Amino acid sequence: MRTFDLDIVSHPEIHRLLVGGVAPRPIALVATTDKAGHVNLSPFSFFNVFGVNPAVVCFSPAYSGRTGKAKDTMLNLLDTRECTVSVVNFNIVHQISLASAPYERGVDEFVKSGLTKLPSVKVAPPGVAESPFVMEAKLLQHVEFGGEPGSANMMICEIVMLHVSDSVMNESGGIDPRLIDQVARLGGPYYTRARDGLFVLPQPGQILAGIDSLPEELRNSPILTGKHLAQLASLPAIPEDYPSNPSTVQTRHKKAALFLEQGDVSAAWTALIGE
Ligand SMILES: Cc1cc2nc3c(=O)[nH]c(=O)nc-3n(C[C@H](O)[C@H](O)[C@H](O)COP(=O)(O)O)c2cc1C
Repeated sequence: MRTFDLDIVSHPEIHRLLVGGVAPRPIALVATTDKAGHVNLSPFSFFNVFGVNPAVVCFSPAYSGRTGKAKDTMLNLLDTRECTVSVVNFNIVHQISLASAPYERGVDEFVKSGLTKLPSVKVAPPGVAESPFVMEAKLLQHVEFGGEPGSANMMICEIVMLHVSDSVMNESGGIDPRLIDQVARLGGPYYTRARDGLFVLPQPGQILAGIDSLPEELRNSPILTGKHLAQLASLPAIPEDYPSNPSTVQTRHKKAALFLEQGDVSAAWTALIGE
């Protein structure tokens, strides 16, 4: 394991490590307007939503590491306190990369990237019509960390209006991850497309047994991994008919591991119990 003391490591190196290690990050396409009404559009991957009461969206335009210059997005938001945040999917990812080029303040990146303005209801800046999920938001707080080149700013905004494309909604009113097709940012030039690596994990709606409840023989298995043990322990209770002194341990564990790799937890338990 390599260790890095942030008192010693350079800022570009910290950036390289953090964006590579804390990923994938969703991408916000933030539209703002200056006092004269000029529209600005830029992507930010230091971004997420927090809570529902109020519903908060947060993103971070940093001061340029090279010049110390503030991003137009932040200057506009401080001036007019309104923005839209449109979620980026695979369909528009090449255009948002184009919008991130360092155009002068006042240049409309909708025009540069060929994206279409979606009129907003409660704020002045438009959303991105091609995005399947657009939030209208108002600035609640600006938190500045140092004000030095490379330092971050948290723009904490309240979401006041949502626009969700019919094309990504399922019959029960939820958003289908296969249809919305979000992309996320990794380190350097790398992105990922969420639906290609998609898998399902049941959400625990009740108290589950936990790995500490598994028989010692399973917990100390040289074959079963932490992931396998978590699969076996994600039941309300461990099967009562588990043998107290099982034989053929290795064979049973190997069989169970194969079933667990296919996601078949009940067949794995049968393989472990039945001798
Ligand atoms: C996918 C992607 C994510 C980005 N995330 C951030 C970010 O979180 N913070 C940041 O300061 N810049 C980020 N950038 C760079 C800004 O988009 C870029 O500096 C842009 O020119 C800022 O525009 P503005 O000055 O018009 O606000 C990102 C760029 C891309 C392509």
